[in-house]
Amino acid sequence: MPTRFSRRSILAGMAALPAVALVGCESDRTTADPISTVDSLDFANRLRIPSLAASSVAQDGVRVFRLSAVAGSAEFLSGISTPTWGYTDGSYDAGYLGPTLRATRGERVRVIVENRLSEITTVHWHGMHLPARNDGGPHQPIGAGEQWQPEWSIDQPAATLWYHPHPHGETEFQVTRGLAGLFYLDDGTNPDLPHRYGIDDVPIVLQDRTFDSRGQFSLRGRAVTGVLGDKILVNGTYNPHLPVTTRQVRLRIVNVSTARIYHLAFADDREFAIVATDAGFLPSARQTRRLLLSPAERAEIVVDLRPGEQPILRSVPWDLNMMTPLTNGAGGNDHLDLLQLRAGNSLAEAGRLPERLETSSAVAFDHVAARRTFQLDGREINGQQMEMSRIDTVVGASTTELWTVQNTHNQPHNFHVHGVAFQIVPPGATRPDPQLGWKDTVLLAAEETVQLAITFPPYQDTLTPYMYHCHMMWHEDVGMMAQFTVVDPDQVDSAPRTLQVDHDHMAADHDHG
Ligand code: C2O
Ligand code: CU
Repeated sequence: MPTRFSRRSILAGMAALPAVALVGCESDRTTADPISTVDSLDFANRLRIPSLAASSVAQDGVRVFRLSAVAGSAEFLSGISTPTWGYTDGSYDAGYLGPTLRATRGERVRVIVENRLSEITTVHWHGMHLPARNDGGPHQPIGAGEQWQPEWSIDQPAATLWYHPHPHGETEFQVTRGLAGLFYLDDGTNPDLPHRYGIDDVPIVLQDRTFDSRGQFSLRGRAVTGVLGDKILVNGTYNPHLPVTTRQVRLRIVNVSTARIYHLAFADDREFAIVATDAGFLPSARQTRRLLLSPAERAEIVVDLRPGEQPILRSVPWDLNMMTPLTNGAGGNDHLDLLQLRAGNSLAEAGRLPERLETSSAVAFDHVAARRTFQLDGREINGQQMEMSRIDTVVGASTTELWTVQNTHNQPHNFHVHGVAFQIVPPGATRPDPQLGWKDTVLLAAEETVQLAITFPPYQDTLTPYMYHCHMMWHEDVGMMAQFTVVDPDQVDSAPRTLQVDHDHMAADHDHG
């Protein structure tokens, strides 16, 4: 695959494509036209690094964070003020996104979440293993002006997690406005990798946006996977560069886009090492030149630099087994420059990557308590749309199951399960392959099937469900989501399948047109 494409060849490629109208698309963007930002950015803006959230340890030993969701504004495009929402820990005015929360395995944390917006929101801790009532899904709404104070113990390996709103039917809208942040978990046994926050261990929050003529975020032009923007923001910075002062830099890449799938590569096609996936470190680093990340997926990579180099991180076309017009509509032929790394003329030396990154073993797979199949098609899971009062699946606490997820659609989707990390059982294999990483979200190409080995959490609650869903936020909002509860393994058959739902306390319904 060529790594540099001239505009000319892109235009030539476009001309050959049929103009196909996609159902449900009220587009600003002709979905048949791939876009390219290659050679159009000068990376003039220094990459913003989200601040680390303030916290204090209360008398009871609990680490306490404060997080308020507020409206604000930010200047992404020079001279243009864009209305935004963001989270603040109180130490600054929120503009966009939120501070990075950080806690260590074994700690107990409490987050005092305050909703200073004029509508319902929730805060979901994506990837966190915690009781369902603290999960921040659609069943934990926070009304305008209200507070919510979840508290839980950190009981999982080091990982790059994130938080975002999850109100019923309104996730795409609220994330697009700017609500999202990172939640780092450390573990006493962290491997010897670059670890200075914002210096050689750098968060990379990838988002794409469309701005309307007044500089507001636009949700127009949904197609295949959702809204695809033609402007990339990294940590809320448009046209960014990262100054690099060390020979090795660790990038914690988080896809916080509502719909866009990135196929990451460097413009000079250099190799980089993947050291972690969504939910933790790989057993050992994997060298590669390409990395696919769908919405909500994460990867940590380590890149080697020489003095003075300026490699560009870019997204290049991908192939997810679709017809060309659909691929174009889902951004699969876009070329997007994301971030320039700017190495200084002298760089601090770095050590070699450790041989072993993670020692914890695979999912205990000797006793599989249940095998289930989930079919993704259209905007439904197993032929149904999300219903807050329906519990779709009941699983036993601390048991292991094999979930076969079949995408029978001619479009890609992904699949996220709350409250767990899973491992992937490769096609034809009988056990999970640890080298594929700990995941909580997995991408499925059109017509692809994946098998997930999942050990469920110990937290039992027959009346508060966790979610599983496609994490393309438009898809999840229109109902491509379902619910499971975790109960005593002896009560899986007798646990409730329906819930009382307080319909007055559900999210506002926006016309997002
Ligand atoms: Cu990122 Cu249901 O969540
Ligand atoms: Cu989907």
